[in-house]
Amino acid sequence: MVEDVRTAADIVQIISDYVALKKKGRYYTGLCPFHHEDTPSFTVTPDKQIFYCFGCNVGGNVFKFIMLKENLTFPEAVRFLAERIGIALPSPEEKTPSRAQQARDKAYVVNKLATDYWHKLLLKGSAGAEARDYLNERSLDETVIEKFQLGFSAPQWDGLLNYLGKQGVSHSEAEKMGLALAKEKGNGYYDRFRNRVMFPIWNHHGKVVGFGGRVMDGSVPKYLNSPETELFSKGNTLYGLNFAAKSIREQEQAIVVEGYLDVIRAHQYGFTNVVASLGTAMTPEHGKLLMRYTRDVVIAFDADAAGIRAAVRGLEILQEVGCRVKVLAIPDGKDPDEFIAKYGAEAFKQLLQTHSKSLIIFKMNQAMASRDTSTVKGKLAVFEEVLPNLARVRNQVEQEEYLSVIGRELNLSWETIKGELNKYRAETGKKPFAGDKFDKNRHNTYISASPGEHRNLGLTETALERAELTLVRLMVENPGLVSQVKQRLGLDFFRDIQLNRLVQLIDQVYLEKGSCKPDQLYNYIDDSVLTAVLGRLLTREMPTDHWEQQFNDCLAMIEKAGVTDRKTILLKEIAEAEKAGDFQRVIELTTEYKNLL
Ligand code: UTP
Ligand code: MN
Repeated sequence: MVEDVRTAADIVQIISDYVALKKKGRYYTGLCPFHHEDTPSFTVTPDKQIFYCFGCNVGGNVFKFIMLKENLTFPEAVRFLAERIGIALPSPEEKTPSRAQQARDKAYVVNKLATDYWHKLLLKGSAGAEARDYLNERSLDETVIEKFQLGFSAPQWDGLLNYLGKQGVSHSEAEKMGLALAKEKGNGYYDRFRNRVMFPIWNHHGKVVGFGGRVMDGSVPKYLNSPETELFSKGNTLYGLNFAAKSIREQEQAIVVEGYLDVIRAHQYGFTNVVASLGTAMTPEHGKLLMRYTRDVVIAFDADAAGIRAAVRGLEILQEVGCRVKVLAIPDGKDPDEFIAKYGAEAFKQLLQTHSKSLIIFKMNQAMASRDTSTVKGKLAVFEEVLPNLARVRNQVEQEEYLSVIGRELNLSWETIKGELNKYRAETGKKPFAGDKFDKNRHNTYISASPGEHRNLGLTETALERAELTLVRLMVENPGLVSQVKQRLGLDFFRDIQLNRLVQLIDQVYLEKGSCKPDQLYNYIDDSVLTAVLGRLLTREMPTDHWEQQFNDCLAMIEKAGVTDRKTILLKEIAEAEKAGDFQRVIELTTEYKNLL
């Protein structure tokens, strides 16, 4: 059914409804609808039924376009297109939803009822007066109170339960949805949220999944949140993402803060790309959620010790899933809300521009604060702390930028720090741009998501990198080749983690569906990095003449590089085993080494 729609919907025709397209040889171009630009870098390729923007790297098939443009989920986009081109789909009523789905649907409706109920209480009548004063005192304006649907839960024990009861929601249902609590001894239920300012929490599709409630005096807990329910899980939710998604994509940056008020204040002052982790540690799921929209993330936290620890931990988790992260430690012991309220939007903008630091620089500053940097010994100790992170940076231009900042800050000469880096590499066997295929922590990608970075890297694309890209390019076009590559190299072979992901995806789709066209691949990709990688790859010239020869040459070259890597590692391990006196292991490793020769 999806396939029927995909083949019947002509991508040029569909996109023409949104973008003025001009034909240019094999493809069409126009101004990108996903970022601001004056010269067209948005392309649509009818042969492949895909679109791709060279400016912001967004790309995909016709469904992806509709999902982004109309803010729909995949099934919704399929339905939307089917209707537009007049294909009859089985209507959703014909297929009875599962019990679990019915329960979820009802919970969404009930959450909406609760949102409206508390919002009305806040705005009208004497009960909400105290809460209105509270928000007034915190100088939150009407527009954000409306936008974030803030509310007030009255002090009585059963206000919401009574209201929901009249709407046909039983008390035990309300309990399951996290809105009520069971009384002791099993006689009845009472409202979970009482006498609090209420903050509805939306998922990224814009449906209310839970709530937070803040006390208006100093009592504890300050915030009470919905428990983990069928719909709500803190680790999977970023507060404000429903409002921020569009702006995150346009600005190519997300700002992550800790709390409800930080988000709301930021939006009130025009920072619409701000979301919150709601006081919990960042999770890989948070990272993946952000990666749908951008890979550039700033974590803005209070500069106290706990805030910094949380930020660094969050940063490493986000990097692990592929984000490029910076930290902004807010000065004067303030959180983003307090900073913006006190100093204003312009000051916060300045702070973002001048105080956001990459992990490496941030770590260096931390180390500098705790060491005596007046001696060379102290300076080198600081440098040593950031060496492992620095050695992992693959982009040479980026790495040299770091080196010059570090040199300047520590007042060490370029030769000294470059020398230390090389020494470290020699010791750990890490070569620039190669050799760390076995490094679990790599998250750099040379087929990059950022156009600027790509240009820099274009200059340094090595023969080996070219071979890998060509090979993957060929596999994208001929998924049948994957099995050959799998046999020779395995699927986790490429130095670039994103290429590995892509090849594994091709393999999986091809096995499951029996075919795998580039535009079909996009149905299975929902993060921005892989989208960009595929987009970039598809714009590479496809080797035409004698491609079989090229395919074999590339395979051979990559295989050989793999053997060289393995030999380097073996030599290092042999030396270690000798040092440890583990002769059994020395023999094993030496045998493997000899076999490789
Ligand atoms: P903070 O203590 O920094 O609160 O907690 P805040 O956001 O600055 O709130 P205000 O300005 O005092 O009103 C940060 C976040 O941690 C979660 C909430 O999501 C809060 O926004 N939190 C905090 C809780 O869930 N429970 C608590 O008791 C405290
Ligand atoms: Mn605060």
